[in-house]
Amino acid sequence: MIPVIAIDGPSGSGKGTIATRLAAAFGWHLLDSGALYRIVGLAALRLGFDLESPDEERLAALVGRLRIEFTLNGFVLLDGDDITQTIRLPEVADAASLVARIDVVRKALLTLQHGARVDPGLVADGRDMGTVVFTDAALKVFLDASVEERATRRYAQLKEQGADVSLPDLFSSLRERDERDRNRSVSPLVPAPDAVLIDSTAMSIDQVFERVLEEARKRNLVPSQ
Ligand code: DC
Repeated sequence: MIPVIAIDGPSGSGKGTIATRLAAAFGWHLLDSGALYRIVGLAALRLGFDLESPDEERLAALVGRLRIEFTLNGFVLLDGDDITQTIRLPEVADAASLVARIDVVRKALLTLQHGARVDPGLVADGRDMGTVVFTDAALKVFLDASVEERATRRYAQLKEQGADVSLPDLFSSLRERDERDRNRSVSPLVPAPDAVLIDSTAMSIDQVFERVLEEARKRNLVPSQ
């Protein structure tokens, strides 16, 4: 069986950074499952879907039609267009969280996610990697941090990319999105019963990384470098 490390947690918990570092250290593939929901959210926005109560069948059909590519140098393409930066916009994050509530959308994305499980291994980050998509993951981590800390981190990240965002707006949209992701009926954001819980509020990325590596070693998962 191809090994998987599942990293779940809310936005700004550091899961993307940790997953990227782990994949590099192990020489494994990386699945940013949030990017898939963001792509669906963006496509639905562009087509004028009512995201509060979308036509679910049309939305599922849309997911089936999307031509999504993750290039080796880190670009995300939708039907050939570079959408790497666009999917990071706060309005796309909101759209992603709205479409992510819909069961048929989640089911339509499942095959794509399972397809990322390729030799020699996969690091997958998201909300339901350990609870739904890769329930047999060799290591499951649930990464959390206070909402204040997460909003501050996301603000710094977006500012660095030159985005025009305000911290109070970001804080409230993060809180709203958290609420929605944690309380939805399908695949809510909850730790798997067998996940290692890490609160990164007062930890540096290096500390979190070391902590995860320690858990990986306990399970005989050893970095290739
Ligand atoms: O991790 P992210 O912020 O890029 O995710 C964007 C949205 O996608 C998030 O608010 C909820 C949804 N999502 C999900 O429902 N399940 C996943 N495995 C990953 C993301």
